[in-house]
Amino acid sequence: PAPGWAREADVIVVGSGVAGLTAALRCAASGLRTVVVTKARLDDGSTRWAQGGIAAALGEGDTPEQHLDDTLVAGAGLCDEEAVRILVTEGPDAVRRLIATGAHFDTADSGEIELTREGGHHRRRIAHAGGDATGAEISRALVEAVRARGIETIENALVLDLLTDAEGRAAGVTLHVMGEGQHDGVGAVHARAVVLATGGMGQVFSATTNPPVSTGDGVALALRAGAEVSDLEFVQFHPTVLFLGADAEGQQPLVSEAVRGEGAHLVDADGTRFMVGQHELAELAPRDIVAKGITRRMLEHGTEHMYLDARHFGAEMWASRFPTILAACRTHGIDPVTEPIPVAPAAHYASGGIRTDRHGRTTVPGLYACGEVACTGVHGANRLASNSLLEGLVYAERIADDIARHTPARREPAPVAHPETPAHPLLPAEARLAVQRIMTEGAGVLRSAASLTRAAEALDAVHAAAREDLDEHGKTAEPGTDTWEASNLLCVARVLVAAALRREETRGCHWREDHADRDDEHWRRHLVVRLRPDRT
Ligand code: SIN
Repeated sequence: PAPGWAREADVIVVGSGVAGLTAALRCAASGLRTVVVTKARLDDGSTRWAQGGIAAALGEGDTPEQHLDDTLVAGAGLCDEEAVRILVTEGPDAVRRLIATGAHFDTADSGEIELTREGGHHRRRIAHAGGDATGAEISRALVEAVRARGIETIENALVLDLLTDAEGRAAGVTLHVMGEGQHDGVGAVHARAVVLATGGMGQVFSATTNPPVSTGDGVALALRAGAEVSDLEFVQFHPTVLFLGADAEGQQPLVSEAVRGEGAHLVDADGTRFMVGQHELAELAPRDIVAKGITRRMLEHGTEHMYLDARHFGAEMWASRFPTILAACRTHGIDPVTEPIPVAPAAHYASGGIRTDRHGRTTVPGLYACGEVACTGVHGANRLASNSLLEGLVYAERIADDIARHTPARREPAPVAHPETPAHPLLPAEARLAVQRIMTEGAGVLRSAASLTRAAEALDAVHAAAREDLDEHGKTAEPGTDTWEASNLLCVARVLVAAALRREETRGCHWREDHADRDDEHWRRHLVVRLRPDRT
C-alpha cells in the first residue's frame, strides 16, 4: 500500500538503543528537527540487556593506546585501526558526556568510577551500573533525556524501506505502525538524513542473548536499498549463557563476562579449569577463544554445557555485585552461591553490518548507520567485550556532527515501490522458527562447507516456497511485524551464510572445522556485499 500518512523532519533516527538515542539527542541539540522511531517501546532493544558495562580508558595508568592494542588483538587482524583509534580516544569523553546526560555508574568510596575486567582486556577498564545492569541504567538515562527534550518519538513502528530522491540520496523511510493513533498503518517520515540504529540480528539463531526485536531489520533494509554490508560472517557467540536445555529457543539469560572478570572459573563436569594453559589470560581470553574452548570441551566430553563456578564470591558479593544474574539463575532453579552455573555459548553480537566510513556514512548518500547495525571497522573479526556501548556512543555523536555540518536541504522523495517484491517476498510468521533452526544447525559456533551448504540450500527452499505462494497481487503473507521480521531474518541469514561459506579460514569468531587455520595470505580482507535491486 502507498503510505497513508507522512511526517516531515530534518533527521529520522530508526532505533532507540544507546546509538539511536545518542544520535537523536545530539541532532536535536544542534537545532535539527529530529524524529525517533522504534519497533516496540523506546527501551525494548539490546541496550537495556547489556550487563558487563562500557569500556573506556578511564582508570589510572590506562591509556587509549592500551585499549587500542587490546581491541586490535581481539579483532584478529581485521579491525580498521583508524576507526579503533577514534573509538578509544573519543571514548572517555563520550562516557563523561553520558554521565552528564544523567547516567549513574557505580563508584568506589573515593567517588571514582569503579572499573571491572572482561575478556581480552589487560586492565580494569569496564564501567558498570547497578552492579550488572549497566544497559538498563544507560537506557533509562537516555530515554528520560529524550523525553525531557521533547524529541518526537513514534513507538511500535517497524521500518520498511528507504525512500530516496531522484539522485538516489536518502530522503526518509516508510514505516508500518501498529496502534499509535494518528500514525497507525503504513506511513512515511520524510527527512534530510536517515540514521539507522536498529541493533543486531541475534534472532537469526535459535538461542541468543538478544531480545525478540533483534531481527536484522536495518541490515535487511540496507541490502534492499543497495547499500554495502560487510563482515556478516563474524557472529560473536557469548561463551557463558545460562544453559536451559539443548532445545531452549529465543532469548536466553546472559551470565556476564564481568563474573569471570571478578574471578569466576570455567570448569568441566570433573571440576577441571580447562581454559588454564590454553591462553595467557585463561578464562579472560578474548571471547572467541573462550567460546571455542568451551565448545571443544563439550565435544570432547559429549556434553551440552560446561560450568561457571563462582561459589567463592559468597552470598553478599553475589547480591551486591551481580543482582540481575543472581535473580535470573534463581528463577531457573540454580543458586550460584552454592552450585556452579551451567553455561554454553549462544549468539550474542553481529560484529559486521552496514558498512560505514568514520563519520557513520553508508554507501548511500544521506543514509547513516551506528551501533550494532553498523560495520564501522572497530570490531574486525571479533568485538572486544564492552566496546559495543562505547561504539554506539562515539559514532552516534560523529554522525550527528556530520549531519549538522553537511546535510543539504530536503528534496522530494521519488515514489517508492512497495518493498515486497519477488526478490523479497513477505514470509509467513512461522518461517522465523525454520530460519533459526537452519542457522543454528548449519552456521553456529562451529561451521564447515558441508554444514553451510546445507543451510544455504534450506534457506533457499524457504525463499522459494514464499515466492511460489505469491498471489495474483504479488502478495504472500499479511503485512505485520511478525511477517516482516521473518522476511528480514531470511534476507540477512542468506547473506550471512554465503559470506561464511566463502571465508575459507578460521579467524576471530568465524570457526571453520574444514579450514582450521587463520590464513592471512588470502583472507586478511573483508567480504562486502551489495545486492542488486530485485536480485534474490
Ligand atoms: C557481558 O556482560 O558479558 C557482555 C558484554 C559485551 O557483550 O560487551
